[in-house]
Amino acid sequence: MRTLRVLVAAALLCLVPAVSAHAAARLTYDLTYDFEDGTTQGWGPRGGGVSVTMTPDAAHGGTSGLLTTGRTATWHGASIVAPFVRGVGYTVTAYARLVSGQPAATIALTVQRTPTGGSTMYERVAAATVTDGGWARLSGNYLFTAESSDVQLYAESSDATGQFYLDDIVVTPLGDPTREPVGSDFEDGTAQDWAPRAAAALQSSAEAAHAGSRSLAVSGRSASWDGPALNVLGRMAKGDKYALSVWVRLGPEATAGRLGLSIERRTGGTPSYERVASPKDVPAGEWVQLSGTYTLAYDVDFLSVYVESDTGTFPFYLDDFSMKYLQPKPIQTDIPALKDKVPFVMGSALTRPDALGVHGELLARHFSGVTPGNELKWDATEPREGEFTFADGDFLVDFATRHGMTIRGHTLAWHSQTPDWVFQNADKETLLKRLETHVRTLVTRYKGKIAAWDVVNEVVDENQPDGLRRSKWYEIAGLDFIRTAFRVAHEADPAAKLFINDYNTEFPRKREALYALVKRLKEEGVPIDGVGHQLHLNIEHPPASSVEATIERFATLGVDQQITELDVSVYTDFVSSYDTIPPELLAQQGHRYKELFDVFRRQAANLSSVTVWGESDDVSWLRSWPIARLNAPLLFDDDLQAKPAYWGVVDPSRLPPPQRRLEAPAGTPKVDGKRDLEWDLLPDSPVARVGEVSAGFQARSSGKGLYVLAEVTDPTAGKDDRVTFTVDGTPYVVKRTGTSYSAKGAGGPKAAVRPTPTGYRVEALIPTGTDVEVTVSDSAGASTSWTGKVTAAPAIKLTSAAHRTPVLDGAVDRAWSAAPEIRTATWIQGTSGATARVRSLWSGSTLYVLAQVADPTLSEQSPNPWEQDSVEIFVDPGNGKTKGYEDDDGQYRISFSGRITVGGTFDAGGVKDHVKAVARTVPGGYVVEAAIELPTIALAPGTLLGFDTQVNDAAGTTRTSAVTWNDDTGRTYLDTSHWGVLRLTQG
Ligand code: XIL
Repeated sequence: MRTLRVLVAAALLCLVPAVSAHAAARLTYDLTYDFEDGTTQGWGPRGGGVSVTMTPDAAHGGTSGLLTTGRTATWHGASIVAPFVRGVGYTVTAYARLVSGQPAATIALTVQRTPTGGSTMYERVAAATVTDGGWARLSGNYLFTAESSDVQLYAESSDATGQFYLDDIVVTPLGDPTREPVGSDFEDGTAQDWAPRAAAALQSSAEAAHAGSRSLAVSGRSASWDGPALNVLGRMAKGDKYALSVWVRLGPEATAGRLGLSIERRTGGTPSYERVASPKDVPAGEWVQLSGTYTLAYDVDFLSVYVESDTGTFPFYLDDFSMKYLQPKPIQTDIPALKDKVPFVMGSALTRPDALGVHGELLARHFSGVTPGNELKWDATEPREGEFTFADGDFLVDFATRHGMTIRGHTLAWHSQTPDWVFQNADKETLLKRLETHVRTLVTRYKGKIAAWDVVNEVVDENQPDGLRRSKWYEIAGLDFIRTAFRVAHEADPAAKLFINDYNTEFPRKREALYALVKRLKEEGVPIDGVGHQLHLNIEHPPASSVEATIERFATLGVDQQITELDVSVYTDFVSSYDTIPPELLAQQGHRYKELFDVFRRQAANLSSVTVWGESDDVSWLRSWPIARLNAPLLFDDDLQAKPAYWGVVDPSRLPPPQRRLEAPAGTPKVDGKRDLEWDLLPDSPVARVGEVSAGFQARSSGKGLYVLAEVTDPTAGKDDRVTFTVDGTPYVVKRTGTSYSAKGAGGPKAAVRPTPTGYRVEALIPTGTDVEVTVSDSAGASTSWTGKVTAAPAIKLTSAAHRTPVLDGAVDRAWSAAPEIRTATWIQGTSGATARVRSLWSGSTLYVLAQVADPTLSEQSPNPWEQDSVEIFVDPGNGKTKGYEDDDGQYRISFSGRITVGGTFDAGGVKDHVKAVARTVPGGYVVEAAIELPTIALAPGTLLGFDTQVNDAAGTTRTSAVTWNDDTGRTYLDTSHWGVLRLTQG
């Protein structure tokens, strides 16, 4: 920054009027008023009768100053059109002295301005007590952010008639304050501009320090939200992203607490609160970092960052705060726009910050549709009855309209993000009235602008007998809330397409429950146009083929369909978390997106749009749900650059070759073209459909070689239909006709082929190898492959359950002797300890499990149930062997005293009430008898269940060993794919 002294009157005359508050050009150098050129340099009188002149009578530097006389009111003085630009901060310094004989007074530099649409305001920049004995220095910072006119800087005095001199007034722009880092280390012994939100006391303290020797001690908080806050108004620019970080530690008397980092912003005086870092545990004596990013998406007149607890008012220390502007990478302009590469509307969810800056550019470039992610939900649009707020909704609708995008309205009636008042004191009539008003108001407001509405969201629960979620909506109004919502939406905008939207529709049970509901509503004449499939998937599951099956199923109802919330989590469970996501996983995700978009393109006649739930990984909701963790489920990365997932959609040839993995458990199936029980112990790995061809693939390892199975779907038989198994570079071909050969000429592999209803089955025995490719080709030239590594694994254990009903009393009655006994002998923790002998029976829809545990010393002292002496029973109806839990997969834990705990999907909602158990201690151990309801499948002789048992052995408060029947991964509680198999028998 260079210093320019304003010396020449001519230059000054040009400069001063030009630098108004509206000037786009910023002052990038100091502006000094030294009054050495014989003029007042633009300063003039403020107030009637006031006179402002250049004078040689007094000077701070040089030989002259500015004299103000004739004042008769405190606000009278000397003023100038202020050289301030909105959004830029300035330091203003000046020197003041009273004319000889005047009593001491406070002289202030003040800004007067009039915000657009508001009333004139006066803001003090600097002030000091001034006497006639010498020059006093005035200094302060100033910034304004709201569009304003008539911006003036003036000097005034608390003495209404006081006369004063001014000199060496310097205005220093602070560069662009929104790009400058902000930091506090408290090393100077002050609170460094941190101020309490309410009653809290803040003090620089040497009692604790994260770095250096001091921190900020916070005590005397009056509420969980009370604590230290830093005013960052003007330090963030709208649309820009900032990284914030601060270290916290519990105060002296505190033993436990959770702290988080938040932002308070106000627009037009109305406050909003946003989390930068959700509260997390701060163990006593440790410094914990709270960090996150924040994008300012609003015009604000107040902006403050603060630390708060989730509960309690305990004291804490804070240190080493930093806030830094994150320079965005420019978006790529040399890659194709997604929307040009797909035969349907390509949509993205967006929230307000996503419409700004580079995020806005990315949206505009790639997407032809948008869905406001939160801004049209009930809590955002009608927080209190009859009080509608559309500022954010309008903003996004305007953004989309300006860019010619199709808008999906999300959502009119949902059980989540709906304020409590909606259901309070509501009988059916009141509730439907409230719904009607809400739906009519929203749909009318956006009539002609919003093309499609998610009228109802997530109303299906396939675990209820009638398939309907027991929401407050349903409990109070039954199906009528759905009927009313559709009717009113249709009345309000007959041209809008009305959707029913749900997740997990790619799973057969949910698919069928939704299908039945849509069919029924259509038959009743409810104006329902389409079905929205959210499609929150994960990297493994479910296969693209189930998505296709769902689309095909709903196509038979003649409804429009849309993919509404697509994302592909890199996790299969809700516990794991990566520090950095392995690149192989992102490549695998690219192939997953490719397979999904193959389906969407093939089904384009049934799909009017495909929407991803967020434009880039940095804004994904999966960063905070179901737990806070790094996730990367979308097409663009945190820097808005194309991921393999993008190329999977746009140009799969740019992806690295797929590298799948398959375990080949030990096994020796008969090569006869029949599907032995052996093959049913595992699901087939999908070989995704290309053209009309697809397949499922499995392998078993043995001393004789690798047994392989391909279940080929290929409806039209041709003489060149074939499966090629390539092992470490050598191809082995089995033709649909039954002939087999290898590249080495004569003597193909041992193989058998049989027709199936949709194609044919191949079984073969080929040499053992690691790198395997399975290619299925049809005579018309279509072919699809599975490529990856096959590794040998232990055989999958299989046992059976006899058809009997035991008495559930903890006594081993005779019925049990009908079932074979298995033993837990796979140690996942330790090498010895408590074990169990286990038997199973079944009848009706109930599975009974008996565990006789050898465990002489019993403890339930740990607060964690898995660290208490206990038995865990794992059941996967249908033996899906999906990695994560599906909603009917359960982990049922029974302690030696009969305490039951259940695990499953995130909330174990589909299984938690399905177990009854009795436990009884016996000499040398205990017996558990459990009855598990399995309502999601029909139990019959021959039914296979994924099944395992684990025994936890505790001593005092710790677990000393754990042993299972089959699963050796230690991940039984997260992953169903390594459980053994239980087969129901008639006997
Ligand atoms: C999510 C939003 O993306 C989050 O920002 C919010 O905190 C919770 O809701 N199914 C839906 C969407 O229908 O509305 C949800 O959106 C994601 C799951």
